[in-house]
Order: sequence, then structure tokens, then C-alpha cells
Amino acid sequence: MSDKTPDAIKPWGGRFSEPTDAFVERFTASVTFDKRLYHHDINGSVAHASMLGKAGILTETEVQAIVAGLEAIREDIVAGRFEWSVALEDVHMNIEAELTKRIGMTGKKLHTGRSRNDQVATDIRLYVRDEIESLCGTLTRLQEALLDLAEREADTIMPGFTHLQSAQPITFGHHMMAWYEMLERDYSRLQDCRTRLNACPLGAAALAGTSYPIQREYTAQLLGFDGPTRNSLDSVSDRDFAIELAAAGSLIMTHLSRFSEELVLWTSAQFDFVELPDRFCTGSSIMPQKKNPDVPELVRGKTGRVNGHLVSLLTLMKSQPLAYNKDNQEDKEPLFDIIDTLRDCLKAYADMMPAIKPKKDNLYKAASKGYATATDLADYLVRKGIAFRDAHEIVGKSVAYGIEQKKDLSELTLSELQQFSDQIGEDVFKVLTLEGSVQSRNHIGGTAPDQVRAAVANRRAAMAAR
Ligand code: ARG
Repeated sequence: MSDKTPDAIKPWGGRFSEPTDAFVERFTASVTFDKRLYHHDINGSVAHASMLGKAGILTETEVQAIVAGLEAIREDIVAGRFEWSVALEDVHMNIEAELTKRIGMTGKKLHTGRSRNDQVATDIRLYVRDEIESLCGTLTRLQEALLDLAEREADTIMPGFTHLQSAQPITFGHHMMAWYEMLERDYSRLQDCRTRLNACPLGAAALAGTSYPIQREYTAQLLGFDGPTRNSLDSVSDRDFAIELAAAGSLIMTHLSRFSEELVLWTSAQFDFVELPDRFCTGSSIMPQKKNPDVPELVRGKTGRVNGHLVSLLTLMKSQPLAYNKDNQEDKEPLFDIIDTLRDCLKAYADMMPAIKPKKDNLYKAASKGYATATDLADYLVRKGIAFRDAHEIVGKSVAYGIEQKKDLSELTLSELQQFSDQIGEDVFKVLTLEGSVQSRNHIGGTAPDQVRAAVANRRAAMAAR
């Protein structure tokens, strides 16, 4: 990175009589981080130049020279041969100055009818749009892995929890489908964000539009936007789409953080519910027995930075008067970090999910403890004509007796159970089994193995139509 460029090179230098203070130059520059937008900046410039040609504002020869020059610059950047200059402030001025250096006078015509304000607003939209597509791809991979796991483990019984206390038996497949549903809403939130951001700001220029006979629909179409934005002031100033992405990102991280918490608990010696392969874990430098679930822990920890960036972006936008303000340059680092974090965390989960192996015996044993079929006994009594509140009382007493005898409900004899209600018969043992309990919850959204298989099939079909 060279910062020896003479001040005369600054595209806005005309009205200035002294060079920029060295610190101010560094303080106001964004090229160190916004250079990552170069692809989208060049795509935007190529579309803008083509529109200027179509509208007769530039000649065809000029457009060809600009496009060829920009493509050659792109190649050099990709190959790592481009020298970025802090004196040229940002990605936009670096590329434009280089274009003029290479093709002369014509390069200076590219910025006709455009401002960096509509240029940067376009670049970030294009960038976020691409990143949403790639995040949705990884999210889909993770969801597919969850569907496979849910299908494989549709019959696997485990304890379901409320307050982290044994509540009712459920199936492992059902638990996986809960994670799937959270991610499905995350997917649709990202798509919503994409729908709203997909309008082209080019033509808004600095804030008020431009006096050239531009064709905004054409530029929008070249860049794959649904159309031009409808108000020039709004186009250059609002970054609500970045905030929407951050909010959707915070929810994705919140969900992944909850998954992580469960995986951390489940891989502990105390729960011992699942096996995470060694390649997703690390050891301890002092305790030789340790196999730590670092990947889920890091994902859980990284939720904090995404939530923090959401607050940064909201605060950055708050109180800004219309239209563009330099404050907006501060949108990029949080936005980039959100996207990098989401990409890595989703990848970690998509890679890890197919390798998760439930320990069926341990899950079954854990489900047998904690009187998880107590509700089933109450429901049984209700079917025999007892009011639910009375049934609740009867089962409560049976549980207290079981605790005293150190026996589960299914281990009590018929006569022991009949001490609490004469309505209890031999058929009770069917409902007190874990299998009977999960199979009885056989309705849409219930934990019965058949419902889990139906939900998997239903979601597979929905995903194929995406
Ligand atoms: N680097 C600036 C940004 O990220 C580009 C727009 C600059 N516009 C201006 N009027 N100073 O927002």
C-alpha cells in the first residue's frame, strides 16, 4: 500500500489549496477494508458506462475503452498486482484513478452522471445480495443434513426437557426437526432482506439525481436489480438493508448458539448423549483426558460479535439527517465481519452435522429416568373418565411413591399403582412405556416417529421447490 501519491491526484482536489493532513488522510480513508468491494464496484461501473453509451452520453468507442480498462484492472486485482493507495481514499477512487492512468481522458468520463454516493450504495447492495445467496447455500446444506439425521433417528427415543428437567420422552428426529424449523425461518428472513434490497440506486447521483438523460431502468436491468430505487435522497442515505441482514444474522447466530449449548451439554460426561468426531474437537494442554467441543463453543461465543455489530449499525444510522453522510462509511467493517462470521459458523455446522452420532442406549436410559411418562398416566386416567386435575393429583402421588421406592412408574406393580386409583388396569403398562408415549403424540408437529418421517418428507419437497 503506497501513500506517497501526490495530492494533485485526488479527484476532488480542485477547490483545495493545501494537501490533506497526513492523519486526516488516514483517518478518512476506507480503502484498507472497502477494497473487498472491487468486483461489485467494477460491475457497477461497467453497467453505468454501458448505460451512458446507450443513452448517447458517451460514444461507443469511449464505452469500449472504459469497459476494457476496467476488466484489465479487475484481472490485476484478482492476480494481486494492483497497488492500492490510501491517498486515493477508497475502492471507488482507486479504481477510477487507475483507469484514467491507463486509458487517459476517457477514464475521467466514467463518473459522468454519477457520484460515489450512489456508487457505494449500489456496490454494497450487490455485495450483500451475493453474500445472501452464498449464505443461503450453506444454510441449505445444513438443513439437508438435519433432515437426513432426523430421518435416520426418527425412532430414537430421548428425554425432552423443560427447565432442563426431564419432561416427556421425545424422538431424536423430532429434536433435529426443531432445529430445522428455526433455520427455515432464518432462510426466509435472508430472502426477505434480498427482496427489499434489490433496487438500483445508480442515477440518484450525489442526492438529487442528475441532469443527464440517463436510463435508470437499463442500468438496473444490467445489474440484475428488480428496477431503480424510487427516491434519490433515500437511495444514497439509508443502510436499512444492512441492518436487516445484521438482524437476520443475529437470529441465525442466536439459533446456532442454542444448538451449540445443547451440543456442549450433550457431549459432556454427565449427559453423554452424542458423539462428536475428534476432528471437530480439541484437547487440553494439561488434562490428557480432555476432548473439548471447541467448535460449538466458539460459535456460541461469536454470537456476541454479531449482536454487537447489529447495535453498531443501528446506532450508526440513528439521527443521521438526509441524505448521505460520511458516517455511512462505518457500515462496512461491521457488515463484513457479520458476513464472515456467519459464513464460518454455518460452514462449521453444515460440516459437523452429518458426523453427529446419537448414543441411543444412553438417550433411552436417560428418558427412562425422571418420570417422563407421568403425563401419559394422567391422560390414561382422563380416558377412563377422571377429570384432568384429579388425574394430575393421582399421578403426583404415584410419582412421590415411586421416588420413595426408587422405582420408575413403569416399574411399579399393578397393585402398587391401584393404591392411587381403582381405575388403573393391566392396559396401563402400554402407556407407561417410552415407545407408547412417543407414538401416542401422532399429530402434525408431534413427536411420534411417523410424524417425524412425514415432516421430513414434507420439508424435503418444500426445499426442492426453492
Ligand atoms: N467511502 C465512502 C463510503 O463508504 C464512499 C462515498 C463517499 N462519498 C462522499 N461524499 N464522501 O461511504
